[in-house]
Amino acid sequence: MEKLVIKGPTPLKGEVQINGAKNAAVAILPAALLINGVCTIDNLPDISDVKISCKILEKLGAKIKWNNKNSVTIDATEINTTKAPIDLTSKFRASYYIIGAMLSRKGEIEVGMPGGCQLGARPIDQHIKGFESLGANVTIENGIIHAKADKLKGNPVYMDIVSVGATINVMLSAVLAKGTTTIDNAAKEPHIVDVANFLNTMGADIRGAGTDVIKINGVKELTGNATYSVVPDQIEAGTFMLAAVATKGDLLIKNCITKHLDSITAKIIEVGGIVEDYGDSLRVYCKNRPLKANIKTLPYPGFPTDLQPQIGVVLSLAKGTSIINESIWESRFQYVHELNKMGAKITAQGNTAIFEGVETLSGAPVSATDLRAGAALIIAGMAAKGVTEIYNLEHIDRGYENIEQKFNNIGAKIERIIE
Ligand code: EPU
Repeated sequence: MEKLVIKGPTPLKGEVQINGAKNAAVAILPAALLINGVCTIDNLPDISDVKISCKILEKLGAKIKWNNKNSVTIDATEINTTKAPIDLTSKFRASYYIIGAMLSRKGEIEVGMPGGCQLGARPIDQHIKGFESLGANVTIENGIIHAKADKLKGNPVYMDIVSVGATINVMLSAVLAKGTTTIDNAAKEPHIVDVANFLNTMGADIRGAGTDVIKINGVKELTGNATYSVVPDQIEAGTFMLAAVATKGDLLIKNCITKHLDSITAKIIEVGGIVEDYGDSLRVYCKNRPLKANIKTLPYPGFPTDLQPQIGVVLSLAKGTSIINESIWESRFQYVHELNKMGAKITAQGNTAIFEGVETLSGAPVSATDLRAGAALIIAGMAAKGVTEIYNLEHIDRGYENIEQKFNNIGAKIERIIE
């Protein structure tokens, strides 16, 4: 068993480079299945979700060549099966993108229900509604999803809720469909724009990504033969921004798109931090104890749910009482129990948590209940007095490249220990 041992407190100081976005990468890799040819994808984060995505592509017949740990060349000319490996697809959420991509490319796919972080119910009804609108027949039996279509036909799709996954999946299925698909009430996250940019670079015709109406004109074939670089990770950048505030540090966060971070910047300013915006980098510092703030998580451009646990650490240390309302996931407050073991005073009920700010946290053994909860506990450990031990690292390793090394380079004292 592996654990992280963190000695705190350590104010973070220095420069950190942001990697490519996990949630863009795990959609762009399956999108490469649409290409009847070769493409190169750069700036991939070196994380387990990316490695598993590549293994799934290989099992379907694609040829994968690693150029270095962050770049891969994929030849998807030959796709020789429509059965995805269940042992791999059950390991993470984004495996559902195989459905949209394979329906579009091969007209059929059989895949297990996706895995991923336990954040409450994670239905895929909107994905299925989209596929069916384009003419696919989708059945789920004994945990296996089977989707089939003779020839997908473009159609209007209205999303009943704003869903990142459903927007991307329907976009993937529409790329090679006959005619035009419009997705109304589409999600607008930066990784949706990134997937559309990747597909357009490879020959697709997608317009409006980043707005709530996306129009996809079906094309006959994607020929690829191009190189694409994944967008910087908004959530990784936000994690470092909030770590700077929680540890009363001073960080220059490089290689980020600062516009993607507006909602986080606004909250950091509200709690008394300073953010200097240089376009592709941000300096974030906070000299004093943070002030209280209220937060509601929302789809982009609102405050992202994927940074809710990390800002929860800041608010647990703030002067006064703060409230977080989680409007995306039904159980994203599991970290509260762990943070309370470190001396935080948080009560969570349903989708609301009340943070009575304390002056200091103290180190304790805790468990990463999901990916972002794990990141939050690392931040808490760096801000707390004493030794924090974090267990269940597989969640953290799914989404952050080299996280302890990156924090250690800017002043943290984190060791990974194999017991
Ligand atoms: N929803 C439905 N039906 C659907 C799809 C979604 O009811 O068919 C609901 C969900 O239950 C949720 C809301 O719609 O309440 C939004 O879910 P969404 O589909 O947007 O989430 P997702 O695509 O499954 C992605 C990220 C998550 C991130 C959410 C929200 C990936 C692989 N995952 O999930 O990232 O929290 O969008 O921004 O892109 C993470 O990185 O830690 C993570 C959990």
